[in-house]
Amino acid sequence: MENVYKFTNFLLPEELEEIDRILTDENLWSLRSEKKEDPNLGRIMYTAQLSQNTLNSIQNRVSVLLNKTVKNISLVFAHYEAKHGQPNLPPHFDGDNNDVIVDYQYKSNTSWGLGVATECFEIQDNEALIFNPNQYPHWRPKKEFKDGEFVTMIFFRFPESGINYGHLTLSQSDPIFDEAKAARNLLN
Ligand SMILES: [Fe+2]
Repeated sequence: MENVYKFTNFLLPEELEEIDRILTDENLWSLRSEKKEDPNLGRIMYTAQLSQNTLNSIQNRVSVLLNKTVKNISLVFAHYEAKHGQPNLPPHFDGDNNDVIVDYQYKSNTSWGLGVATECFEIQDNEALIFNPNQYPHWRPKKEFKDGEFVTMIFFRFPESGINYGHLTLSQSDPIFDEAKAARNLLN
């Protein structure tokens, strides 16, 4: 598949420490947004204000990895756990104004593949899959999360005002998802 890249050791130890600190140190909680529950997808979303230095460093890393300049980095955490609803992510396009996503696995205690078109990639903590979320339908295998099992992702995006994939916000029954759905169903 074109333009889908997997990277190990994506964040540096000092960057991971910075994130850990913001999420755990009460003195830094002002740098963290409220958590927003998304029960249909079995996740909560929140963000954290990382230092400009770290943001620049991640953005430059992605530019070098892709050999293309990316700008306007944004990030959001997505924590999947059954207490927020059973995690379930059928094939979809993001339908946003962005053509690079870094699906970064921050922490987990269970494994959950990441499907892009008809292929399912295994991903470990501190690994990232980078692709265009408006070029390929992407999805997660069906998996029943047991109590306490979780996967925490960080999605880094690089939105641009000149890009608009709004027309790709499609219903689940759209035939464009048929092949990805078939690949997803084959895994069960
Ligand atoms: Fe997506």
